Amino acid sequence: MSALTPQSGFAQRIVEWQQRSGRHDLPWQSTRDPYHIWLSEIMLQQTQASTVIPYYLSFLQTFPNLNVLADAKQDDVMHAWAGLGYYARARNLQRCAQIIMRDHAGHFPQTAAALSQLPGIGPSTAAAIAAFAFDERQPILDGNVKRVLARYFGVQGDPSKRGIEQALWRHAHTVLDAAPAELNMSAYTQGQMDLGAQVCTRHKPNCTQCPLNTDCYARQHACQHTLPTPPVRRPVPERHCLMLILECQAHLLLYRQPSPGIWGGLWGLPQFDTLDTLIAACVQMGVADRATAISTPPLLPLAGVTHGFTHFRLHIEPWWLRSQARKLPPPPADGTWIPIHELTNTGMPAPLKKLLNTLYAAPTETAHDDC
Ligand code: ADE
Repeated sequence: MSALTPQSGFAQRIVEWQQRSGRHDLPWQSTRDPYHIWLSEIMLQQTQASTVIPYYLSFLQTFPNLNVLADAKQDDVMHAWAGLGYYARARNLQRCAQIIMRDHAGHFPQTAAALSQLPGIGPSTAAAIAAFAFDERQPILDGNVKRVLARYFGVQGDPSKRGIEQALWRHAHTVLDAAPAELNMSAYTQGQMDLGAQVCTRHKPNCTQCPLNTDCYARQHACQHTLPTPPVRRPVPERHCLMLILECQAHLLLYRQPSPGIWGGLWGLPQFDTLDTLIAACVQMGVADRATAISTPPLLPLAGVTHGFTHFRLHIEPWWLRSQARKLPPPPADGTWIPIHELTNTGMPAPLKKLLNTLYAAPTETAHDDC
């Protein structure tokens, strides 16, 4: 290894490290099936492997192949995804399956360039799928790899900024171009991910275990903790809304969330900006009259819930109304009455499931849900 330059040794050292010390028992590592690999890579965008594993396994039980996924009801797909967060991924997943069935005769394109034309597949995900499924020689650049490269080459600046990201892509290409022709692309791709997840971590880099430590700029300059340069943090905007938990005859009123939107395609609670508009909606549906709604019961305020999204924090003020109506009132447009016992099978965002769980012991969601 000593005759190699920092560039030429980079990829091969990662491959040897991966084979010795990387992860080998993740469920998507035992397959070359592009459907399985694609699913895992989409789920792994912004989500840790340990969270993804149970979702991945149960998703494949429900949707064992592209054909089944393409023909599935969107509701069923959203339900299988509920709790993983970033729901645009689930909507794109099904769109992508439908496009491959329609335009590619059900076969995954085999190059990163072609894969990256499909919904939800960016250049790094495309390269990872092409490497794992088809041995294509293309670099990846996910968050972990950005950190490894920024430290190794001493790249200053926020990697989420276009110019810095482009510089990192150039490094990613250079180290791959300098690698031996017979480089094991699957081990190299997995090795970069593993190195970022296990050794070159954000807060506690374990440089003594790193196969790149002899040439790493950050190690040489003792600046592992300032690279990559953190983004300038702006205060996260706060939003506030009221939600109505309207119960009637053991049913709840739910709304299909508009798509695109933070929870697009999932089912949610009726949402309001003010208590006045919430009460007006109850009165209009005939489940409360103005007088009874205002006099605390039967409209009960519940403990507030705060949910963090990537770009804002949402404070939810829930109100619970148990209507005494003998018959379900006709639901407003886009709304539907769902039997409470079916909440378990309804694709809902994790914080709402959690909220309803406290009232009705609906299923629990433990995964971090973000958008
Ligand atoms: N993150 C993204 N892709 C991954 C993979 N294949 N294994 C583990 N973590 C990942």
